[in-house]
Amino acid sequence: MKIIGKIADLKAVLNQARLAGQSVGLVPTMGALHEGHASLVRRSVGENDVTVVSDFVNPTQFNDKNDLKNYPRTLDADCALLESIGAQYIFTPSVEEMYPEPDTRQFDFTPLDKVMEGIHRPGHFNGVAQIVSKLFYTVEPDRAYFGEKDFQQLAIIREMVRQLGLKVQIVGCPIVREEDGMALSSRNALLTKAERKTAANISRTLFASRNYAHSHSIEDTIKYVADTINGIDGLEVEYFEIVDGNTLQPLSKWGSGDYIVGCITVHCGKVRLIDNIKYREKC
Ligand code: PAJ
Repeated sequence: MKIIGKIADLKAVLNQARLAGQSVGLVPTMGALHEGHASLVRRSVGENDVTVVSDFVNPTQFNDKNDLKNYPRTLDADCALLESIGAQYIFTPSVEEMYPEPDTRQFDFTPLDKVMEGIHRPGHFNGVAQIVSKLFYTVEPDRAYFGEKDFQQLAIIREMVRQLGLKVQIVGCPIVREEDGMALSSRNALLTKAERKTAANISRTLFASRNYAHSHSIEDTIKYVADTINGIDGLEVEYFEIVDGNTLQPLSKWGSGDYIVGCITVHCGKVRLIDNIKYREKC
C-alpha cells in the first residue's frame, strides 16, 4: 500500500490505473479507523481493481473547534489495518493541500439538510459536501462507499452527486456494531470505560423500540426511546426522530411510509454519539 499526500501524485497513479482499464473505489474517512470503516474498505476491495482510502480530518465540517482538536488521530494503526485489507492507496493530504484557499461554496440540500444533524450542527453538511466533492473531483471514482451509521450524511451525499451530475455510484453499507450492539465509532475511543458501558443502552433501547413499535404509535415510540435513554444516568438525548428513509422528514403515522428510520443523537459525558435503526426496510 502506498501513502500519498499530494493531489497531483494521487491523480497521476489513478490516471495510470484508468488507462490500464482498472476501476477505482473510494472510501472517504477521517481516520481513527475501526471495523466499521474496514467493512467499507473490504467491500471496495472486493468490487474494484484499485481502492483509495482518504484519511483526512476535515476542519470545515466541525462546528465545534474542541471537537476538531480532540478528534482521535491514529495514522500508523490506520495504515496497518488498510494494508491488511488490501487497499492500494491511503490519501493523507494536509489541510493546505485540500484548502489552498478558503472554500466558499454553499450547498443547499433542502429539505435533507434542514432536519436533525442539519439543525443541531449548523454548517456541518456544507463542510462534508465541500470535502467529499473535492475528493470526488480528485479521485473520480467509479464507486464510493459510505456507512448507514451516518444515515443523513449518506442521503445528502446521494443528493450532492445528483445535483453536481457526477457519475460516481454511491454504495451504502450497513452499520457495524460491537457485540453489545453499540455502533462502532471513532468517537467511542473518547469514552471512559464506565461511559462506554452506559452508552450501550442507546442501541439496546433502539432495538427494544422495534418491538414496542409493533403495538404503539410513532409519537409513543419516540417518547419511549427518549424517556428510557434520558432515564439512564450519564445519557442525554439531543434528538430522536422517526423519519421517512428517503426524504428524512418526520412521520406521524407508521402507515405513511415503507422505509422508516429512527435517528438519534445522545450525549454521553463530553462525547456526542449518533445511531439509527430501521423500523421498515426499503425493498
Ligand atoms: P468517518 O466518521 O471517519 O466515517 C467514514 C465512513 O465510515 C462514513 O461513511 C461512516 O458512515 C462510516 N462508518 C463509521 N462508523 C461505521 C459503522 N459502525 N458501520 C458502518 N460504517 C461506519 O463520515 C465521515 O468520516 C466524514 O464525514 C467524511 C465522509 C469522511 C467526510 O469528511
